[in-house]
Order: sequence, then C-alpha cells, then structure tokens
Amino acid sequence: MSLYDHLANSAMELVCLSSDLRLAAIQRDSFYIDHPQASTILKIIENVVAVPRRTQAPCVIVTGAPGAGKSSIIQQIRNSEALSNQIAFLDMAANPFNLKFGELLVSSLGLPHGLIKFGTARKASLPAELAEVIKLRKIKALVIDELHDSLLVSRPEQLKNLSILKALSNHVYGLSIIGFGVDLARNALSIDEQFSRRFYSVRIDDWSESESFRSFLAGVEQNIPLKKPSGLDGPDVISFLLENTGGRMDSIINSIKSAACYAIKSGEERITIGALERAISKPWSY
Ligand SMILES: Nc1ncnc2c1ncn2[C@@H]1O[C@H](COP(=O)(O)OP(=O)(O)OP(=O)(O)O)[C@@H](O)[C@H]1O
Ligand SMILES: [Mg+2]
Repeated sequence: MSLYDHLANSAMELVCLSSDLRLAAIQRDSFYIDHPQASTILKIIENVVAVPRRTQAPCVIVTGAPGAGKSSIIQQIRNSEALSNQIAFLDMAANPFNLKFGELLVSSLGLPHGLIKFGTARKASLPAELAEVIKLRKIKALVIDELHDSLLVSRPEQLKNLSILKALSNHVYGLSIIGFGVDLARNALSIDEQFSRRFYSVRIDDWSESESFRSFLAGVEQNIPLKKPSGLDGPDVISFLLENTGGRMDSIINSIKSAACYAIKSGEERITIGALERAISKPWSY
C-alpha cells in the first residue's frame, strides 16, 4: 500500500517532482485514455485494412465536432505498429506550403512533391508511378485528418479532389480511404453519390452520463500527478463537467488540466469543484 495508490505508474514517477515540473507535465498531451468509442473505431479500421484487395476498397468516414477527439484517435493508429506500416497519413491542417491535395498526397507517401504531376483537368488522372509506390510499400489505406479541408473548397477543386480519392479507392490502387473530419465532410462527400456509398460512417459523440464516462474520468485521474485522490468519477464532478463543457472532449480535458494546476498552486493537491469552477472561468490564471 503506497501513499499514491490513486496514480498510474507514470504519474507516480512525476508526483514527487517540483510544482513547476508537474505543471508542465500536466499541460503536455502526455496521456491517452482508451474509451469505447475510440476502440470501436480502431477495430473498424483494423478490419477494413485487413480486407483483401478487391474492386472497390471499403472506406470509412469518422466525423465529430471540433475537439471531439478525432486527431487523438489518428495518433493511436500511428502508434500501432501493425496498422501504421500499412497506412499513409495525410493531415490537411498541416499544410504550411499550401500544397494542393494531390501534392500533399504524394508527400504523405514520402515522395518529394513535384516528382509526380497531376493532371489539371477537373477529373484528375493519377500518375502511374503512384500505383507502383502504393504496391511496393504495401499500403492498404489512406488516413486523412481534417478531410473537410480538401472538400470544402471551390467547386472545381472539390470535384478534382473527390475524383482523386475515388480513383485511389478503385481497383488499380485499392486504397481504403479513412477520413476524419467535422460533420460537413460527410455532406461534401455526398456530392458524389456513387463514391459516398463506399463509406461506412461513424460519429464520435460528446460524452454523456454513463459508465464509460466514469471509467474514462477515473483513468484521467490516475494520470494526473496530484498527491491526493480527487474522485473525478463521482456524481458531483460528473454533473459539473457535463453542464459546463457540454461533454466535449477537449473542454473536459482542458478543464481538468487547469483545475489540476490550480490544485498544485493552492497546495490543495486534489481537484475540487471550486478548482474546476476557476478552471472554467479563468483557465490560465492558476
Ligand atoms: N482518449 C483521450 N484521452 C486523453 N485525452 C484525450 C483523448 N482524446 C482526446 N484527448 C484530448 O482532447 C483534446 C482534443 O482532442 P483532439 O485534438 O484529438 O480532437 P479533434 O477532434 O481532433 O479536434 P479538432 O477538431 O480541433 O481537430 C486534446 O488535448 C487531446 O489530447
Ligand atoms: Mg484534430
């Protein structure tokens, strides 16, 4: 029986550090708590990637409000060795050079952009080299974060990007397109009914009161290096969080992190409703 039984090993290692180091550790994205919605999505992706090549590759679209936890799930796919070496990753938000979709795609495959030229017509034709690279690398799927960024563009650009994606999911390339984005992404896909029918659609919902939310919060608590237990999975904290964050993942995590910082600065060493109230109204004033 140790003094810090309420903590996971990684947090136990941090709990005796100075306040400043603990504040920094808390504000880092240093932990990920598995939860049923995320593991269901990971399972779907594992099964889709395992489908043998066929005329039309199965595709998935995962939608969720801003901050619902989409990119964190992609990070879990990246962390899975078995999955990540069969997948190319494309993040539409990480495009500092404002590359066109086709060019981004080429660089996501590790090729210098410019090496492969895309047609300029509305209906893009994909360069033959691309099929070779995909086959050689045994790539089965393309995971796209912020899919909506490639679809909510001018009409000709939108049709071209859709036709690139559609071609990639056809028999020559056989790639499963796995797009993550806000709800509008699904509407944009439906412009091409034939293509959108290939997509299985999953939605990441905001949290509501449930056993899985309780165990998620218990998992979060174990990863926050505070000296005393807070009981984040208790009914008061749960209703406070749901009322003040609408159940949105990023607001919940950010409020808990800020409240933990208040708890360190005040010496209370546990997250109380008072600390959560301060976190909600002044997240950076600890
Ligand atoms: N399972 C999890 N465990 C712990 N923290 C999480 C988890 N999922 C998400 N978060 C945290 O919630 C915040 C928002 O998550 P994320 O960036 O994945 O959302 P998003 O849907 O991609 O947001 P955006 O729409 O802004 O791109 C991040 O700080 C992330 O670390
Ligand atoms: Mg994101």
